[in-house]
Amino acid sequence: MKKILITGGAGFIGCHVVKLFVEKYPTYTIFNLDALTYAGNLENLRDIEDAPNYHFIKGDITDESFINELFDSHQFDAVIHLAAESHVDRSIMDPLGFVRTNVMGTAVLLNAARRTWKHADGKLFYHVSTDEVYGSLGEEGFFTEETPYDPRSPYSASKASSDHLVSAYHHTYNLPVVVSNCSNNYGSYQFPEKLLPLMINNIVHSKPLPVYGKGDNVRDWLWVEDHARAIDVIFHNGRLGQTYNIGGFNEWKNIDIVHLLCSIMDQKLGRAEGESAKLITFVKDRAGHDKRYAIDATKLNEELGWKPSLQFQEGLEKTVDWYLANTTWVENVTSGAYKHFYEQQYVQR
Ligand code: NAD
Ligand code: DAU
Repeated sequence: MKKILITGGAGFIGCHVVKLFVEKYPTYTIFNLDALTYAGNLENLRDIEDAPNYHFIKGDITDESFINELFDSHQFDAVIHLAAESHVDRSIMDPLGFVRTNVMGTAVLLNAARRTWKHADGKLFYHVSTDEVYGSLGEEGFFTEETPYDPRSPYSASKASSDHLVSAYHHTYNLPVVVSNCSNNYGSYQFPEKLLPLMINNIVHSKPLPVYGKGDNVRDWLWVEDHARAIDVIFHNGRLGQTYNIGGFNEWKNIDIVHLLCSIMDQKLGRAEGESAKLITFVKDRAGHDKRYAIDATKLNEELGWKPSLQFQEGLEKTVDWYLANTTWVENVTSGAYKHFYEQQYVQR
């Protein structure tokens, strides 16, 4: 019997984590706390919203008195903290919003846990973070858990700060914590501002496919449900105070992934091979664009036995199928405030 607070459970990764925990652990009670920003959508949770062990709470992690009251009244056993501003391009336009949510929000949660958990036995603060805290790689090498932090965007700097706060609360107050740093996720329910869903959506509508710079930056892709499974494994078996890297040893140059996607979508949409690729448009590079990310997930594999379940091509096809079957979801989440951001971003280039 556990009462678990999951923050950011209406977002892309969060909704997969919430669903997995609600369905797999009927004796746990899952509280999903989410501010429902542009990136959070309750439609993502329709499958489990009526489950007896699931509760949604709308609220902001930066609201200290609200969070303290929430911890006092519910006496959570554990926190899985995913709520964040997550898009690098947005962080370049609005760094302070990222500091507020990712740094202050994490500090408020840590402090509430410290106040409430007088006895740490069986308690856990699980902080979900990113490989971007490690900076940027050259042609060779991988990020390991020992790689020194070297964040370069306001987003990654805010996540690195939050990781340091988690570690500081462990060392200073003995707060029981664990941290994971994951590579790029892809799959269903990802907001269509990130590379893959943005490209899928633009291909559907025959709109230009904006590839930053020369398209030779490298990202390491992992199916979102494999990330959720890794969080489950680390939550239950990870060692306190430890960091675990999560990744699928699956590096792709952006331009190659866009070409693969175009070819998959030509087939699915009944277009001639090569038609979607004609939409590729090289645009101004992202400021401070990190060259390459690549995660070494050996520790997680050897210590806790986790490995990815899905081959990339299969995962990408599943993802495309999901977006093609869920055009109403795409229309709903991209209306309103998002439209404004999208247009503004492209005016600036
Ligand atoms: P997302 O942007 O899709 O979702 C973030 C969620 O947090 C949304 O539901 C949003 O409403 C909520 N939120 C934002 N500000 C909030 C606030 N002040 N109070 C309460 N809720 C708030 O993000 P995501 O891609 O699902 O990422 C989730 C976490 O995983 C983040 O911490 C991110 O840094 C990390 N991460 C993401 C990736 C990736 O590839 N997407 C990879 C590694 C780590
Ligand atoms: O590595 C983990 C991180 O991955 C997470 O912590 C972040 O929350 C998540 O957003 C993601 O960050 P990236 O910046 O790598 O993801 P994004 O989808 O924005 O971009 C992937 C790559 O594609 C990157 O090199 C920039 C490029 N890109 C992106 C967009 C949106 C383009 O070329 N064109 C685009 O329109």
